[in-house]
Amino acid sequence: MNKIILLSIALGLTVFSCSKSKLTDPLDIKLSEKLSRLSPTGSSDYFVLPESDDYASIPQDPANPITPAKVALGKMLFHETALAGGALHESGKYTYSCATCHVAANGFMPGRGQGIADGGMGVGENRFMNDHYTEDEVDVQAGRALSLINVAYVTNSTWTGKFGGKDANVGTEDVWDNFEDTGINHLGLSGIESQLIEGQKLHRMVVDEYLLDDMGYRAMYDAAFPDMQEEERYGAIPTAFALAAYLRTLIGNKAPFQLWLKGDYSAMTDMQKQGALLFYGKAGCFRCHKGGALSSNEFHAVGVKDMYDYEGSFNTSVDDLRNFGRGGFTGKEEDLYKFKVPSLYNMKDSPFYFHGSSKHTLWGVVEYFNNAIPENPRIDAKYISPFFHPLNLDVIEIQQLVAFLSDGLRDPDLSRYVPEYVLSGNCIPNNDPVSQEAMGCN
Ligand code: HEC
Ligand code: HEC
Repeated sequence: MNKIILLSIALGLTVFSCSKSKLTDPLDIKLSEKLSRLSPTGSSDYFVLPESDDYASIPQDPANPITPAKVALGKMLFHETALAGGALHESGKYTYSCATCHVAANGFMPGRGQGIADGGMGVGENRFMNDHYTEDEVDVQAGRALSLINVAYVTNSTWTGKFGGKDANVGTEDVWDNFEDTGINHLGLSGIESQLIEGQKLHRMVVDEYLLDDMGYRAMYDAAFPDMQEEERYGAIPTAFALAAYLRTLIGNKAPFQLWLKGDYSAMTDMQKQGALLFYGKAGCFRCHKGGALSSNEFHAVGVKDMYDYEGSFNTSVDDLRNFGRGGFTGKEEDLYKFKVPSLYNMKDSPFYFHGSSKHTLWGVVEYFNNAIPENPRIDAKYISPFFHPLNLDVIEIQQLVAFLSDGLRDPDLSRYVPEYVLSGNCIPNNDPVSQEAMGCN
């Protein structure tokens, strides 16, 4: 009996050690040691992101546990233009979705400097204003749409972290009722859940009989929220919960860096590995971009330009409250011009970087951090983060860091997060005539 147990343990160990090939290459050893040293657990496994169906390991709101039925509903709704029943003009109705501004093929970013939902026509960089709309009618925001890859690690959402009744927003309660949207934080939910209850209004989306019965979503709501009272089951809260459950499964776990962490040491090129060493060393990026998601729920000022400076942006100006960053929300001087530290996966897929889309290449981003000269003349030096200082990287080092960012951190298979169809049968993610033509879909 004991022998059998010992044998199976031995077998188990062999299988286990085979799945992680041996560290022999000096570059791999160096990177592994560096990551272990920087890890709060002492092991580089700390940086491994969970599998998308390993719900127990994905950060979530205890009020909204992730379930397969919620994820299935959220995946459809996120791409469903039949939600867009609140469009301001008839020509905009049922033409846009969440995925219009968060396009999977663009790393869940807009693929243009500023996302346009209601009032826009066309795809990505070729999306323009619909003639039936005036500039103040189009649905746009004064910041680039954040990527949603690894958004499960965001506790307080948006660039300023204004959503969410917990975590970073503890202590900011007295300002929540000063704004039209942040009163929702009083529900005590996480950032994503809170934001998406409000987001349906902002983006003119409605759950009505057309969606539930004509398009056939009622049964999916019933499956996802069986314990909810019927009068609540088809409202904004369950809709937000389903969307949030789905978004939490959007994880960049197939990026070469992730494969490398899991033991496939050939997944990254030497150039990318050198770049990772710089990221976690001389370049100091890890001081703000933390954990497996390479983000953090911290706010820092790195002095970049705002959306009004972006050519082709709508509905924003030098006076926009969003330009003040976290300080525009909290009203505190110490938060002025600070923005949330975003995740860095799949950045290559949408070349519009920073909240004001002021950089168009990752080379430009790295040079910006390397030179550390704030590009926004309105921001006094006293507000800038002390971590934003010249890095003295040479051209080869910049090249290595860019290789890590552009390909080492790029999950090549985000299409797994897009449904094959939505119940309306509409085109994904946009359903206006210009997009239909461009995407060859109808
Ligand atoms: C008009 C374009 C647009 C549409 C449509 C849109 N978003 Fe966004 N999204 C943005 C922008 C811009 C931001 C950043 C907002 C800010 O900082 O104020 C954002 C931020 C987010 C965030 C926060 C991410 C983070 O890291 O804090 C989530 C979550 C999100 N959107 C989900 C959704 C969902 C779900 C929908 C559909 C209900 C949706 N979005 C529709 C533009 C859009
Ligand atoms: C002081 C903290 C800090 C450090 C250090 C830092 N970052 Fe960032 N990073 C941020 C913040 C905050 C933003 C968002 C800034 C904004 O748009 O206002 C950002 C944005 C970015 C973006 C654009 C993301 C997007 O969604 O547009 C990239 C790429 C990036 N950082 C890479 C790096 C690299 C590479 C390094 C190291 C050379 C680095 N960062 C060092 C805080 C930091």
